[in-house]
Amino acid sequence: MSGTSSQLQVDGKTVDMAIKTGSIGPSVIDIGKLYAQTGMFTYDPGFTSTASCESKITYIDGDEGVLLYRGYPIEQLAEHGDFLETCYLLLEGELPTAAQKADFDYRVTRHTMVHEQMARFFQGFRRDAHPMAVMVGSIGAMSAFYHDSTDISDPHQRMVASMRMIAKMPTLAAMAFKYTVGQPFVYPLNSLDYTSNFLRMCFAVPAEEYKVNPVLARALDRIFILHADHEQNASTSTVRLAGSSGANPFACIAAGTACLWGPAHGGANEAALKMLEEIGSVDNIPKYIAKAKDKNDPFRLMGFGHRVYKNYDPRAKIMQKTTHEVLNELGIKDDPLLDVAIELERIALSDSYFIEKKLYPNIDFYSGITLKAMGFPTSMFTALFALARTVGWIAQWKEMIEDPSQRIGRPRQLYTGAASRDYTPIGRR
Ligand code: SDX
Repeated sequence: MSGTSSQLQVDGKTVDMAIKTGSIGPSVIDIGKLYAQTGMFTYDPGFTSTASCESKITYIDGDEGVLLYRGYPIEQLAEHGDFLETCYLLLEGELPTAAQKADFDYRVTRHTMVHEQMARFFQGFRRDAHPMAVMVGSIGAMSAFYHDSTDISDPHQRMVASMRMIAKMPTLAAMAFKYTVGQPFVYPLNSLDYTSNFLRMCFAVPAEEYKVNPVLARALDRIFILHADHEQNASTSTVRLAGSSGANPFACIAAGTACLWGPAHGGANEAALKMLEEIGSVDNIPKYIAKAKDKNDPFRLMGFGHRVYKNYDPRAKIMQKTTHEVLNELGIKDDPLLDVAIELERIALSDSYFIEKKLYPNIDFYSGITLKAMGFPTSMFTALFALARTVGWIAQWKEMIEDPSQRIGRPRQLYTGAASRDYTPIGRR
């Protein structure tokens, strides 16, 4: 491999492939012509060594534990900005001026209500439905209500759909929560900021005034920033693949939401909290560490490990700090789950199995403790992740749609099934 091209020897042939270099991070070998020149595909299940696209939005250095949104370190955005500022940055590529921020906040705020008919749509679900099942259904149903923003070839309609998704996800998530607990839906209040509005839609009841706790609102807003985008993770890749066929943005976000639900991905925050509850006390930790290390045991430490981070997930560090902030604000002095989590982390990070495999806590390890302390049921944790990740999905979808080189995604395969054979009549089988 030399300079800006590489060579591959295959079946006595030499194939030249260009090397494309990014602004930071690994270069890529362009294999676009490999099949035409060799009749062979590359093979990379799980895409561990495959770049699916070119992007300018988010960069992760997994070895150093670095996460940048449009070049800005996550630590600085979480410390100094708010979630809607991060939304603007991910969508537009630059931090907003004061005037741009005020205009963006105004436009998002005035899209927070959903079509009143959607309230009847919710009535079709069982009350004990998982909130993520309700979210997948209601987000997809937005395609049936907002026909004037489904034409992806129209930049104006793409912008309207983007604003609607960012603005309405908190309303849909709150409605999913209220529906499952049997309480009336609470309408958004334009006088509140984005995250305070969400807290009020979740926890206000008609029987009494609801006062937003500013410390909790700030903490949750920061949690949304941490979850906003993360390169080409499974759910973002799902959104891009769905969008590559020309599907409307609401359908694409519904597809991403469905993918995020899995316990290996966004469902890990719910699974991690259930794991901490199952462990129950620090005395049981050694038993579960042994289970996690046992090749014959499917148990994994949920909230640990990552495809890209082979160092501490920078979001987990901020998450841990936020957990202490929220527990202090709520006067929770000794949360047994937090004790288990801190001791589990300490033991795991000193165990050779986790050190050798570079398994560290990820964003899902501490988030559940914080959200539970705020009053959210475990079943709502992934819905909150989907709420925050919507802006990342939308930004990546928009980048793909506006990329002149984009085509429908259509991977190939290594076929190991039966070769061609003739049909046998049933009487002769
Ligand atoms: C998210 O991609 C993203 O960016 C995702 C995300 C985002 O913001 O979008 O960051 C959000 O999804 C975070 C990850 C949440 N998932 C979990 O916490 C679930 C537990 N973790 C894993 O299942 C696993 O670590 C993954 C799914 C996160 C990563 O899987 P990989 O990269 O395919 O790694 P692997 O499964 O091949 O594991 C490598 C080795 C294996 O051992 P060997 O077969 O090599 O002997 O590490 C072991 C695994 O058994 N391992 C674990 C482990 N995670 C990996 N062993 C014990 N406990 C774990 N948690």
